[in-house]
Amino acid sequence: MDDWIGVINTSDLDVGEVVEITCHGEDLLLYRTPDGHCHAVTAYCPHLNNYMPNGLPPGTPPTELLKNDELHCPYHGWRFNTAGQCIGIPQGQRVPPAVRAGRPVLRRWAVREENGMLEIGQLLP
Ligand code: FES
Repeated sequence: MDDWIGVINTSDLDVGEVVEITCHGEDLLLYRTPDGHCHAVTAYCPHLNNYMPNGLPPGTPPTELLKNDELHCPYHGWRFNTAGQCIGIPQGQRVPPAVRAGRPVLRRWAVREENGMLEIGQLLP
């Protein structure tokens, strides 16, 4: 089954940029890291299920969520790598077992660039 869905032109996502999209019925963040690769993750933080862009000051673009190749949740400072693992929780907060074990906690989708389009595929394990 081919369930790739084109969402935006590849040229519309620069290195270091984050855009909010809806695809497969999910609110996602689509971003391009400094190595040029694109990633699609849920826009809801696994900490308290907050919509991450809403934690930014009003009018701030979602690109501010990306620091190099890490997404930083603006609510309580959790940091996520491109594998969906939480790689940083500020001191004083509880660290859940899944984070301690290094398991991915941020849901991710496959992304490919095809015929000038960025396409979102299946949920990754
Ligand atoms: S809701 Fe994201 S760090 Fe708390």
